[in-house]
Amino acid sequence: EKGGYDHFMLKEIHEQPKAIVDTYRGRMLPDEGIIRMAGIDNHMNKFLNAERIIIVACGTSWHAGLVGEYLIEEFARIPVEVEYASEFRYRNPIVTSKDIVIAISQSGETADTLAAIKLAKSKGAFVFGVCNVVGSSIARETDAGAYTHAGPEIGVASTKAFTTQITVLSLIALKLASKKGELSKSDLRTYLQKMQLIPTKVEALLKIDNKVKEIAAVYKNAKNCLYLGRGFNFPVALEGALKLKEISYIHAEGYPAAEMKHGPIALIDENMPIFVIATNKGHYEKVVSNIQEIKSRAGKIIAIVTEGDTQVKEIADHVIEIPETEEAFTPLLTTIPLQLLSYHIAVMLGKNVDQPRNLAKSVTVE
Ligand code: F6R
Repeated sequence: EKGGYDHFMLKEIHEQPKAIVDTYRGRMLPDEGIIRMAGIDNHMNKFLNAERIIIVACGTSWHAGLVGEYLIEEFARIPVEVEYASEFRYRNPIVTSKDIVIAISQSGETADTLAAIKLAKSKGAFVFGVCNVVGSSIARETDAGAYTHAGPEIGVASTKAFTTQITVLSLIALKLASKKGELSKSDLRTYLQKMQLIPTKVEALLKIDNKVKEIAAVYKNAKNCLYLGRGFNFPVALEGALKLKEISYIHAEGYPAAEMKHGPIALIDENMPIFVIATNKGHYEKVVSNIQEIKSRAGKIIAIVTEGDTQVKEIADHVIEIPETEEAFTPLLTTIPLQLLSYHIAVMLGKNVDQPRNLAKSVTVE
């Protein structure tokens, strides 16, 4: 049932190229520059008239929501807020019928997310679901939605659900952008053609697994790790840290790279591994200067760079290369080595990768 893999998590990491294709298949026609998503198309006026989109979710799905914020604001120019469902539901939030709430949930059963939806509905907002489990409570409770087609996710640590959520959010952002006239037909076509290349690029990344494993072996005994990224890859830094915490029980924190100097920099010494996402677009020069700050404090730098990078390679202790793509799509690639890294570290430490202690696959209690 694990399809020849040692763990469900590894199987699910490797399923991502297919899961991403399954998620966009039938929804985008790259050469024609068309995106079809019934859940959006049937409510287009609501989306076009929305004053604000509020994304609610928990955990990894909340990280996907943050990527969604960057995508929707960048392309569709609609203001977006991302909230932890647990905070949203209890803080008497201001929600009106001019708001659209997007709830993201792999399981579709997360209690806090479900309660946030009910609250938003009671205040008149239109609620759109991005769920993986068909017919789940959240899928039923929302006014419309788009399923991720990741297939069953068994490993407690979410992997393919995350990348397929980002795929759906990318399509939503591009669709709304094109409807609003923020994106020309030819630019939309270009983006979709690049999206179509993502699964092959993920496939290529999965092949460098040995390199990631070598890095895992070097840092597996670390007590603390930092993950840094900027822009679209800031949420990936958060997600990288969460994956490591969850399955290897190593303390890790994700930060926007520029926030490092406002506190976490005090932690840096020669025992501190720091994973930095430094792809060639997205404030590259600024990330390079963040890396130099780490280097001058003797921190160990593991950088995720774009193929062909030379600048970061000179300063980092290890580099992992990702194929070139649109900046907005880089989270779909930068996430992969971080998933593999956590996996290998957890296996090397003898942890229960698929069922980490204290965690449940769906959190149906608040
Ligand atoms: C992380 C993880 C959790 C879930 C969170 C939300 O690997 O599995 O953080 O992402 O409990 O779950 P869903 O998406 O089912 O609402």
